Amino acid sequence: MKDILIKNGRIINPATGTDEIGDLLLSNGRIKQLGQNISCQNNETIDATSLVVCPGFVDLHCHLRQPGFEAKETISSGSKAAAKGGFTTVCCMPNTNPPLDNLPLITYVNTIAEKEASIRILPIGCITRARKGDELADMAAMAQAGVVGFSDDGSYVKNPQIMRRAMEYSLPLGLPVIEHCEDTALAADGQMNEGIVATALGLCGIPAAAEDVAVARDIILAELTGARLHIAHVSTKGAVELIRQGKKRGVRLTAEVTPHHLALTEERVLGFNTQAKVAPPLRTQSDIDALIEGLIDGTIDAIATDHAPHTINDKLCEFGSAACGISGLETAFAVLMKLVHSGKLPLPMLIAKLTNEPASILRMRLGSLEVGAPADIAIFAPDIEWTVDTANFASKGHNTPFAGETLKGKVRTTIYSGQIVYQDNE
Ligand code: DOR
Repeated sequence: MKDILIKNGRIINPATGTDEIGDLLLSNGRIKQLGQNISCQNNETIDATSLVVCPGFVDLHCHLRQPGFEAKETISSGSKAAAKGGFTTVCCMPNTNPPLDNLPLITYVNTIAEKEASIRILPIGCITRARKGDELADMAAMAQAGVVGFSDDGSYVKNPQIMRRAMEYSLPLGLPVIEHCEDTALAADGQMNEGIVATALGLCGIPAAAEDVAVARDIILAELTGARLHIAHVSTKGAVELIRQGKKRGVRLTAEVTPHHLALTEERVLGFNTQAKVAPPLRTQSDIDALIEGLIDGTIDAIATDHAPHTINDKLCEFGSAACGISGLETAFAVLMKLVHSGKLPLPMLIAKLTNEPASILRMRLGSLEVGAPADIAIFAPDIEWTVDTANFASKGHNTPFAGETLKGKVRTTIYSGQIVYQDNE
């Protein structure tokens, strides 16, 4: 493997507070040197003048659909989409068919990932058998096979006693329980956020309280058990405040927010736009403001894509029958750059929420440019504009409300373990 020398980039490494123009040398799949005027022989040189060089992004939450839903995505296509989006590590959710609830299935994902993925794939195992919420899945065996957490994502674990036991079992395994916080009874037949837009469209709403109640219950259970709880895709102002208070009390809590919940309000659903149908639903501007505040004060640790690819037919139907989800890996970074360009979030903080912060939830030596760490790198042009054209997606899922939108900020090169896995040639 040839060494790679990245020259004259703006190197941002939030883990150490580094933000300087310099060079980065990668050797044998690891970071060898970071500094000024580095030279070496027999290398491939990347000129990063006017580009930003940072750790490869780490996504705590995506759906790769294999096994069972290969028409929507595969580990291979999803990993290419990830690389195109600057991601070098993604955690994949277990709502596959069959759901990832036992050791052989986790081994299957690891085996396919090893053979076919161009980046690091870390599976998440189910909390309950077949995600049915009735009995615990084989958590210890899945931990042995290398899962990085447990989740019934897509569904809330309705029974608080089961959730309590899951947390207790997770403790000696040292892994977080990741909850999809939507109280099933309160969300019921809801199709979008409860509010004026739902009323105007005549659609059944999902109140913010469905999320707040679920978050409150699980924080109480985390406090009771001492387990690590990670709240997936936070979308409400109320949930942000509950997490903030829980953290203040010392509960072992972490949380993520998605790019779409930071960028879009419920108005996107107008016209019965199924591309904006997502769970939890898009909320209001005051929720977005609270989410951004939560990112800034550390209440929300990470940004995760919740990349949820679907087929055309899954979305090309009446709103009530349409699948929930957005294919997000390839647009996440540029959508998030809107927050930077509008002055709402400093660039190093955005990068932290995509790199060392999610890595620290995983407790893995990732998301940093420290010498000796894996050579996982994203190089991007912060000011280049491009228009989202789903025909160019590497993901099989072309379902996005951002189609046709012009975004500013483009991933140019992604390096995984010292090898270029994506190069933007435009
Ligand atoms: O919108 C969503 N889609 N939210 C989820 O939690 C699940 C996901 C999916 O699997 O399609």
